[in-house]
Amino acid sequence: KDSKKDFLLKIHEESLELFHHILLQTTAGEKALAYLLKRGLTQETIETFGIGFAPYERTLLQQYLVGKDYSKELLSETGLFVEKENGDLLDRFSNRIVFPIRNQQGKVVGFSGRLFEASDFETGPKYLNSPETYLFNKRNVLFNFDKARPAVRREKEVILFEGFMDVIAAWQVGIQNGVASMGTSLTNEQIHMLGRITDQVLVAYDGDDAGIEAAKRAADLLIDQTDFDLAILSFPEGMDPDDFIKEKGAPAFKELISHGRDTLFSFKMNYYRRDMNLKNESERLGYIEKILTEMLTITSAVEREMYMKQLAAEFDISIDSLNEQFQQRFYKQQ
Ligand code: GTP
Ligand code: MN
Ligand code: MN
Ligand code: MN
Ligand code: MN
Repeated sequence: KDSKKDFLLKIHEESLELFHHILLQTTAGEKALAYLLKRGLTQETIETFGIGFAPYERTLLQQYLVGKDYSKELLSETGLFVEKENGDLLDRFSNRIVFPIRNQQGKVVGFSGRLFEASDFETGPKYLNSPETYLFNKRNVLFNFDKARPAVRREKEVILFEGFMDVIAAWQVGIQNGVASMGTSLTNEQIHMLGRITDQVLVAYDGDDAGIEAAKRAADLLIDQTDFDLAILSFPEGMDPDDFIKEKGAPAFKELISHGRDTLFSFKMNYYRRDMNLKNESERLGYIEKILTEMLTITSAVEREMYMKQLAAEFDISIDSLNEQFQQRFYKQQ
């Protein structure tokens, strides 16, 4: 006999099939499909990720599932509906392109729905996720974890993106070891999931303020938790990986992944200077202090010397005085 969990999974699977069918086979899905194709997604990618469209009518999914004899009690537990005051259920995802979210076994446990017409943006947030349910706990979910696993093992590295459109765009050009959290900052549970399949993480967040702050936070959490080898990809101001692939092309993206990665330390060197005016003497001193303090975390003497030289060259200070200052900090710490 099917358990509640089996039923809930089955409902998600059937919802996905309906949404996917509407996107690809009906006139109601035409505009959404045109949007996705215009963004550069191929039919194959749409199939692979099971992308769909939830049309405007607010009772379509409900009627479809009631027609399959699911009880209202069960439906209201799926998170796919919002309940009106009179108890009626309305489809939660309406007029949105829907992306299935899968658990580690590849079973659909929720959706994220995106508005795509400029005129609709005042009707709600750009992305709307399933709420927390019996099946869906966003702390425990990494988008694409199920499909990325073999590639992560092969590449011995996982790429952590900020948005799942980035995961999808990378996948489409053959980079299949990408995952993303569900728009929240990285959780311990997600870090634990990653740690079970690899010890190398490449953080590839958006090249805007929010993305850079989030990358810093993610890196600090990853370093705190386990001995991950970390590297960071930086994108031109305001670009995310998906934009980058579209504007610069797949070969440039692959080149960035193989040869354009920053160490955590050089990422931080760039991070700390973002809102500093280094032409100002006291800010310049503050920055050098900050970097020297940060250098206490580097255990390799060779690596430290490399950055020391970089710092010395940039600010026209002798290595000796930098070293002296560093030693002072070092002994203070002891
Ligand atoms: P596109 O605009 O479609 O290219 O998406 P993106 O992947 O670039 O998204 P963005 O950089 O704006 O946000 C990154 C991630 O944050 C998304 O994948 C979502 O998971 C999440 N996110 C963004 N906007 C919202 C929102 O309005 N609500 C919620 N719940 N999550 C959001
Ligand atoms: Mn299909
Ligand atoms: Mn962003
Ligand atoms: Mn983005
Ligand atoms: Mn984007």
